[in-house]
Amino acid sequence: MPNILIVAGDGIGPEIMNEAKRVLDCFAGEIDFTMTERLIGGAAIEATGSPFPAETQEAAQKADAVLLGAVGGPKWDNLPLAERPEKGLLAIRKTLGLYANLRPLSIWPQLAAFSPLRPELLQNVSFTIVRELTGDVYFGEPRGVRTDENGKRTAFNTMVYSEDEIRRIAKVAFDLARKSRKKVCSIDKSNVLESMRFWREIVEEEHKAYPDIELSHLYVDNASMQIIRQPSSFDIMLTPNMFGDILSDEAAVLSGSLGLLPSASIGGKSALFEPIHGSAPDIAGQGLANPIGMILSAAMMLELSFDRADLGGKIRAAVAAALDKGLRTADIASEGTTRVSTQEMGTAIVEGVKAGR
Ligand code: IPM
Ligand code: MG
Repeated sequence: MPNILIVAGDGIGPEIMNEAKRVLDCFAGEIDFTMTERLIGGAAIEATGSPFPAETQEAAQKADAVLLGAVGGPKWDNLPLAERPEKGLLAIRKTLGLYANLRPLSIWPQLAAFSPLRPELLQNVSFTIVRELTGDVYFGEPRGVRTDENGKRTAFNTMVYSEDEIRRIAKVAFDLARKSRKKVCSIDKSNVLESMRFWREIVEEEHKAYPDIELSHLYVDNASMQIIRQPSSFDIMLTPNMFGDILSDEAAVLSGSLGLLPSASIGGKSALFEPIHGSAPDIAGQGLANPIGMILSAAMMLELSFDRADLGGKIRAAVAAALDKGLRTADIASEGTTRVSTQEMGTAIVEGVKAGR
């Protein structure tokens, strides 16, 4: 029987995860699965001293899919980088070999008024950021802080990409484009950085096997502008790790809230699903968090890891129905709508899923 590893993490992680679990429980009769829970991030540091303890690592390697909430918080801000909660997240991605992170952006018409962009700019906006996830300056060596003979300190990181790393992520983007509108826009900074010039060169080489796909390139600074200026021009946006991190937060705001976006990390034996937002410690435990990004991550899991696009579709329809009813968590609340808590939003989506069966 397939096993789902639940790692809720810190801050709002446990609250939003509860709602995702309730939604998944609706399908208990339809697909067989078990859920195992383990610690990650700050919660794991408190219990074991490590952000990615051995028992979590073992469970992750055995799991058929991993559902993750969020990690981090002010309590651990002063720890060395290698011991911080974020290290747990980076380590689980790396250990499972999840080099491709898919971050689909869709605009919910119910929330259009909440987007910072004018409604006409949001027409036909639907794109997926394919973010490389296990390379780049995030993992590049050497890294650190050195002190010279005069006691002066210098800090450094390395932006590095191997040919194989670029090829495999480019393939993911081109394959996905085949199932979409057949356009890939690759993001780099090839006018300045050798590693990024190499990125462009290898992406172009890989493109030769995909003559049916239209490939374009943008420098990352220009891309950050085009996301605002003409977001409907994008279909698949292929990015290195760091640029994808930055651009996906920017893109998320178009939809009205960072709290709405799910993601899937693939490329290994099993896949990991998490919302793109962080642990939001400032609002944790108050019922203010939006569980939709987490719940849609569970929907992506049903589609990609369990091959049940039908069930993922039911969840999406239930989210749409809750928004149609005017239900809004704090981050998307506006006049004339009904303000609900994290749990109430979860309940509405659970009811929607049950009604849709
Ligand atoms: C994300 C997050 C993480 C990242 C952090 C929490 C390590 O910002 O998933 O986008 O930088 O990848
Ligand atoms: Mg990020």
